[in-house]
Amino acid sequence: MLRIGVLVSGGGTNLQAIIDGIESGYIPDSRVELVISNKKNAYALTRADEANIETAIIGRKQFASSQAFDEALADRLKAANIDLVLLAGFMAILGPDFFKDLKNKVMNVHPALIPAFSGPGFYGLKVHESVLAAGCKVTGASVHFVTPEVDAGPLILQQAVEVKQGDDPEILQRRVMEEAEWKIYPEAIRLFALGLLEVRGQHVYINN
Ligand code: GAR
Repeated sequence: MLRIGVLVSGGGTNLQAIIDGIESGYIPDSRVELVISNKKNAYALTRADEANIETAIIGRKQFASSQAFDEALADRLKAANIDLVLLAGFMAILGPDFFKDLKNKVMNVHPALIPAFSGPGFYGLKVHESVLAAGCKVTGASVHFVTPEVDAGPLILQQAVEVKQGDDPEILQRRVMEEAEWKIYPEAIRLFALGLLEVRGQHVYINN
């Protein structure tokens, strides 16, 4: 049984896609054991409650330093014996201490085709605003293993999505979620649960 911990900050639609993927059996032999939010009003916490998943709120301001925040998060996940950590709209940057015992065990979904529109400052709607401002015809989403360098860890899956004339950031965000994020995140977790992902340096090989 793969024990999953999910870190969230907002609406939690990706969390929901993960919960649904496990419930339907698409993601085999796995369970979300713990959802941690750094925001106390995150709707993702309600989604977790409704699925009978344990929740915790751990905010950066409760700690004197970001290092102490990272350690508190890592300790809580360790106490729950978590095997895989999923960032799902988690809007805080994790420092190197967080990853000490979690190499290639932390995944993130990003709402663009990394390395485009990624790195510090590119999160949530800002990503889609930037894509539209640049006049891109195509965008998408990426799932990657997380390293201390923001949005730069090994890529697992990517899915392209069309930018349509007349899109605003909200409309584009929704299309990227529906056509890419909610599909490739459960798929990447499924591949991890099946033991099919192999990381060699910056490259992820899918052994199926
Ligand atoms: C998603 O679009 C996710 O890709 C993005 O925030 C949204 C969270 O939505 N994450 C980032 O921008 C991280 N850099 P959700 O809370 O409904 O899953």
